[in-house]
Parts: sequence; C-alpha cells; structure tokens
Amino acid sequence: GLKRREANVLVVGLDNSGKSTILNYLKRKEDQVEEIVPTVGYTVERLSGIERNRSGIALTAFDMSGQGRYRNLWEHYYDSVEGIIFVVDSTDALRLVVARDELEMLLKHQQVVLDNKSRMNDKQNGVHDDGHDESNKNGPNHEDLSTDMNQSINNDRSTSSKQDIPILFFANKMDLKEALPTVKISQTLGLHQLPHKQWHVQSSNALTGDGVQEGIDWLLVQLA
Ligand code: GTP
Repeated sequence: GLKRREANVLVVGLDNSGKSTILNYLKRKEDQVEEIVPTVGYTVERLSGIERNRSGIALTAFDMSGQGRYRNLWEHYYDSVEGIIFVVDSTDALRLVVARDELEMLLKHQQVVLDNKSRMNDKQNGVHDDGHDESNKNGPNHEDLSTDMNQSINNDRSTSSKQDIPILFFANKMDLKEALPTVKISQTLGLHQLPHKQWHVQSSNALTGDGVQEGIDWLLVQLA
C-alpha cells in the first residue's frame, strides 16, 4: 500500500475568510461539525485526510486567528511546518490589503526565527558573533577571517533555507458573484514579489468543497 507520511501545514488567513470551513470539509465525515463558530486563539487540527488524498500524506493544520501570534507560532512549530495554506475571502476587496500585510508579517517572522536558529547553530559550531566588543580591538587580519567565516555560513544557510516551503492560496467564496478573479488576488497580494517560488492560487467554495481538493493536490505534489 501507500507509505504514510505526516506533513504539518499551517492554515492562516484573516477572520471570516473560511479557514474553519475548509478544514471542516477536509475532515473525515464523522469528525465534521455542523455549525462553525469563530476561532479564538488558535486550534491545532489533525486531519486524517488519508482517504481523500492519493499520496497518503496526512495534513496537520494549525488554524490561526488573532494577530501578533506569528512570532510565537514559528518559534514553536518552525521545524515541523512544511507548507502554508493561506485562505483569502475573494469577495473582501477592502481587506485584501490587510491580508497582504498579514502574509508579509507571517513570512517576516518566519525569517527572523530562521535567522535566530542559524545564529544559534553558529554558536554551537564555535563560530563567534560578528560585532563582538573584543573583535573590534583586534587587528584587520582577524576581521578578515571572521568575514570569511560569515560568508561560508551564509552559503550554508542558503542551501538549507526553508524559505521555499510551498504556499497554497485559497481564493475562497468563489461562488459569490462579487468574488475577485485569482489574477487580481495574486496581484494585490504581491505574490510575484515573494521570495518563495512555490506558490499557487486556487479558487474555492468551502461550502461545497469545490476547488479544495485541487488545491490540496497541488500542495501534496510540492510536499512529495
Ligand atoms: P475565523 O474562525 O473567525 O478565523 O474565521 P474562518 O476563517 O475560520 O472562517 P469560517 O470558516 O468560520 O467562515 C466564515 C463565514 O464564511 C461562515 O459563515 C462560512 O459559512 C462562510 N464561508 C466560508 N467559506 C465560504 C465559501 O466558499 N462561500 C460562501 N458563500 N461562504 C463561505
């Protein structure tokens, strides 16, 4: 049979975008809830999803709500998150800019945590911090050496960078007539300027599930 693998996927997006409804759709029938209430804080959802996806990868979603939690989130889950699902309400043109700012913040915090982690690794490997008081008192030779070392660290960092984790955007509520086209959504979110190369916008109707599986399938291909 298929080999099972767990993949932790972060589910984020503004309130009312449809995150809980999408997760609910992806759940096993017996785990689905009839009425979805607004999320307080964040909940960790474990999705079996095995019977729904051919690759046999299990998705675990961190359903976020509330602001300013990203830093905290990345610090706890950085090592385990392999992908991001970002849900957008396609009918909420006004708040698309807010969604863009949230996306930027999310990815910025990810980068900060990444930088901190690699600095911690540097320390563990016996490499001294740049700009330490003592190094200022030393001659230029020492400085040259430390610059070389930092350069080699930067090279290591770029090869092991987790910057390229795939991001799936659900342009949700596509059933409503005021829904914006996906092209407009990717433009407003500034996706072509992202450092991430693996992203995809999938229009969806979370109420019926239209487009949801297609989006998940794209993500699963990236995670395989
Ligand atoms: P928070 O928990 O507040 O963060 O919201 P959320 O992102 O989890 O949104 P939720 O799933 O609670 O959906 C918000 C509202 O939008 C609910 O009334 C849903 O029924 C509705 N909704 C979600 N997806 C769709 C969709 O694709 N089409 C339509 N028409 N309504 C949707």
